[in-house]
Amino acid sequence: MIKLPSPATFEEAVKLLRAGGLVAFPTETVYGLGANALSNDAVEKIFKAKGRPSTDPLIVHGDSADSVKQWADLSTEKIRSRFERASKLWPGPLSIIVPVGPEISKKVTAGLNTVALRVPTHPVALELLKAVALPIAAPSANQFAYVSPTSAAHVHDSLGNRVPLIIDGGKSTIGLESTVIDLTSDIPTILRPGAVTREILSSTLGEDVIVKYHNIKTSEQKSGQGMMSPGLLEKHYSPITPLMPIINAKSIAPDSKIGVIRFTSLTPLPEITVEYDVILSATNNLEEIAFKLYDVIRELDNLGLDLILIDSCEEFGLGQAIMDRVRRAVHKTSES
Ligand code: TXA
Ligand code: MG
Repeated sequence: MIKLPSPATFEEAVKLLRAGGLVAFPTETVYGLGANALSNDAVEKIFKAKGRPSTDPLIVHGDSADSVKQWADLSTEKIRSRFERASKLWPGPLSIIVPVGPEISKKVTAGLNTVALRVPTHPVALELLKAVALPIAAPSANQFAYVSPTSAAHVHDSLGNRVPLIIDGGKSTIGLESTVIDLTSDIPTILRPGAVTREILSSTLGEDVIVKYHNIKTSEQKSGQGMMSPGLLEKHYSPITPLMPIINAKSIAPDSKIGVIRFTSLTPLPEITVEYDVILSATNNLEEIAFKLYDVIRELDNLGLDLILIDSCEEFGLGQAIMDRVRRAVHKTSES
């Protein structure tokens, strides 16, 4: 059930979470599907509700750097000092991977010896995390491999009654999942690009940061072998309707019902008949494109189209995260 934030809603949410139940809540990136990260049974419900493979670890959320710190093992000097620096970017759209402490459920980490930690900035998320005073494991609140939800209605569409409570905190203002950075590798490594860019991370950490998020094969995901970040399937975040880059529009069957998502009006429409043409940002603003992207993909996915054509942008700053998600959404494999 969708409820607006109120003292009664927070009370209900805290009760549910403490009893090992699920609560979907807003964050500035996307909506999360939360459960008590200390409880195997509670975490198991997340995987079940999403249809997510248990080999794919979850991010643990808390209300401050000090509170999430207790769930990590920061005994190594190098990692502790990196953590102290990186966590200055909290609250925010950043998940930080460090060695895991003993208390977090093994189901959260999928048996890895590391954990991803995040302090979101959304006031409703912060209030909930503070009130519940537990580490909350929360993946994006969608069916596995579908487009992440950026509103309470999206969560309801995806998960329906599998979640007893969805807190409605409005649209997620960023609209793309958090940056995931691994601080345990020799060189800090971005496993998923997001609104906190490599440049920001590098200057905050005072050292080089590398990015390693392409070409993780579906077959590796399936066998559970050799995965850097197991959730980073090539095909992910995908609508049901086939999605194709606009530049490939030449090879389309005649009489197809086509929708086009242009990032700006500067992108010319392909010379074919299109039923829907959506422009994400009149001013070519990357924040606006990210903010609307998933919402518009979902909208077009519900129109019974044969094909959705999608734009591209330069891969600077937030453009990196946008294009990462677009590539994953258009990627088709015979296995999936
Ligand atoms: O913005 C976000 O991060 C949202 C909100 C709700 O916080 N959450 C989210 O969670 O996107 P999820 O589960 O959809 O994506 C988490 C990603 C996955 O790609 C997962 O494989 C990776 O983080 N991950 C989590 N723990 C990891 C670990 N210990 N090592 C490597 N990758 C990890
Ligand atoms: Mg997800």
